[in-house]
Amino acid sequence: MKTIFSGIQPSGTLTLGNYLGAMKHFVDLQDDYHCYFCIVDEHAITVPQDRLKLRENTRSLAALYLASGIDVRKSTLFIQSEVPAHTQLGWMLQCVSYIGELERMTQFKDKSAGGKEGVSSGLLTYPPLMASDILLYKTDIVPVGDDQKQHLELTRNLAQRFNNKYNDIFTVPEVRIAETGSRIMSLQEPTKKMSKSDENQKAYISMLDDEKKIIKKVKSAVTDSEGIVKYDKENKPGVSNLLTIYSICSNTSIEELEQQYEGKGYGEFKQDVAESVVSVLKPIQERYYELIDSEELDDVLDDGADQASFEAQKMVKKAKKAMGLGRVKKKK
Ligand code: TYM
Repeated sequence: MKTIFSGIQPSGTLTLGNYLGAMKHFVDLQDDYHCYFCIVDEHAITVPQDRLKLRENTRSLAALYLASGIDVRKSTLFIQSEVPAHTQLGWMLQCVSYIGELERMTQFKDKSAGGKEGVSSGLLTYPPLMASDILLYKTDIVPVGDDQKQHLELTRNLAQRFNNKYNDIFTVPEVRIAETGSRIMSLQEPTKKMSKSDENQKAYISMLDDEKKIIKKVKSAVTDSEGIVKYDKENKPGVSNLLTIYSICSNTSIEELEQQYEGKGYGEFKQDVAESVVSVLKPIQERYYELIDSEELDDVLDDGADQASFEAQKMVKKAKKAMGLGRVKKKK
């Protein structure tokens, strides 16, 4: 059975973008693959975090994974900082990464655009840590949204470089990006991706937004003045984004939806988009509130950390040996 690894940062409540671009696929994949899903809290501290808020977000993300349908009989769910192997291998991979290639990462360039004095060096060395997450588990496939493509390319390069230079120990993973939903856009600026760190709360739907909020946000989504429900990413990015969301949430093709709304305005369309989102998120939210303060959640995360550590330590041992770290004991 092939192995899948993916991670999500606990840097705020997950958005509908995270769900449609990543988490929903994780749930579908767990029947056919050996899966590891991670709450990557060490990635979150590359930008300033409030200590208590980070803890809360970490727990919340774990509950959301389970509430969305991650089944721990099929998948291993764990918190990155509870498995020390991630930073151990992360350091080794930092030492095979070049500063030049890390500085070329779009995410680093975007986040350090205001000057390099004020950003952490962790933001620069984040990709080798992400590579470590993946390579520790002999991962074959990494399902992610479109924005992680460049990081995955670097992971593949680092794995190959390490294998050639030291010893052939890493599986070179493939990236899997879903055909629809891999880039859900902001509701307010539909040429920008929907992001949980957006300052404008109207720009994203949080997975925990209630019905009223969801309807309000979808109704105020930026569209255009044409009044025609048609998919045209270039000229109608707002409507196209809503069509993508609606199509996935209602399991209906975009073409069918276009026909259904022929001659109808945006008012009815937006109401129906919002209702389809509510129908997807409501059951997840109900389960989430049952789980969030439960001991069950702690038990799952304890078991997950044990299982992940057991596997990951084997790879750390191989990587240390390949690089010449530590010692080989003399025979008595
Ligand atoms: P993060 O936490 O930003 O996002 C988690 C996942 O959600 C996807 N995503 C989206 N998909 C569609 N539309 C959007 N608007 C949208 N926004 C986010 C992301 O592509 C991602 O799949 N570096 C990663 C976390 C990470 C990781 C890993 C992922 C750390 N280690 C190892 C895979 C494997 C990140 O910041 O994702």
